[in-house]
Amino acid sequence: MEQGKGSSPSREVAPPGVNINVPHSARIYDYWLGGKDNFAVDRGVGDAMIQAIPSLRYMAGENRKFVHRVARDLVREQGIRQFLDIGTGIPTRPNLHEVAQAIAPETRVVYVDNDPIVLVHARALMLSHPAGRSEYISADLRDPASILSDQALLDTFNVSEPVGLTLIAILMLLADEDDPWAKVAELRDALPSGSCLAITHPTADFNPTEVDAAVAAATGAGMTLVARTQEAVSRFFGDWEMLEPGLVPVSSWRPDDPDVDPKAAYYWAGVARKP
Ligand SMILES: C[S@@+](CC[C@H](N)C(=O)[O-])C[C@H]1O[C@@H](n2cnc3c(N)ncnc32)[C@H](O)[C@@H]1O
Repeated sequence: MEQGKGSSPSREVAPPGVNINVPHSARIYDYWLGGKDNFAVDRGVGDAMIQAIPSLRYMAGENRKFVHRVARDLVREQGIRQFLDIGTGIPTRPNLHEVAQAIAPETRVVYVDNDPIVLVHARALMLSHPAGRSEYISADLRDPASILSDQALLDTFNVSEPVGLTLIAILMLLADEDDPWAKVAELRDALPSGSCLAITHPTADFNPTEVDAAVAAATGAGMTLVARTQEAVSRFFGDWEMLEPGLVPVSSWRPDDPDVDPKAAYYWAGVARKP
């Protein structure tokens, strides 16, 4: 694969099944995080969004830090030993299973994404601790039944044990017309009591001018990107009990750094537990 900042679109070579003529969220996010698995079309949209929100790279980093804090706390405090991570993205260290298995090596993680480039890298890089397991499913959040019935998931999970369901920076890629609330409800209903749901979601609540401009840059390039209000995000949790501190700006969800600016990253974040 030939890529990197200097490559021109015409010289880039993609893995089979990867269309480098249209921007893709996994590769744009990889670009913001400093990864190498992105193409000129992704960097073009990524840069246009950074023009709108200059601190976007910082925000992507804050979102990743939330993944680490959630994995740690769900393993330590809630006793979760199996995670279903939908919208995994291109592997970025430490990955969820690495954080969880550093505390409880027997933890099992099933990753789900619908982007072929994620599949290429995930299979190679998501290596589990030998005491646990990590699996990868190529599937779509818009079809929860296909995820829940996948043989790799059934082989990896004990279906009567609680699951940590993580939907991190993915729901904004589903339009309201796809009814993402119904899709998440279908997943919630399938999980046993004691399961936990962690979500981050970008919002225009903190800085409408910047976020509206970034959304316009993405949708202008043909992508689906929806910023949602705190109320709209809270509905993804249904009647599950929110864990402390509730649905808050991502940086202020149990921050490791007490001096972090709570509203500098424009994401809502929260974790809830099934009664
Ligand atoms: C912005 S990345 C987030 C990656 C990771 N969860 C994180 O926050 O660090 C969004 C990911 O969701 C995936 N995705 C988007 N729509 C999806 C869908 N309908 N079903 C499954 N995965 C999807 C993309 O391919 C991409 O890898």
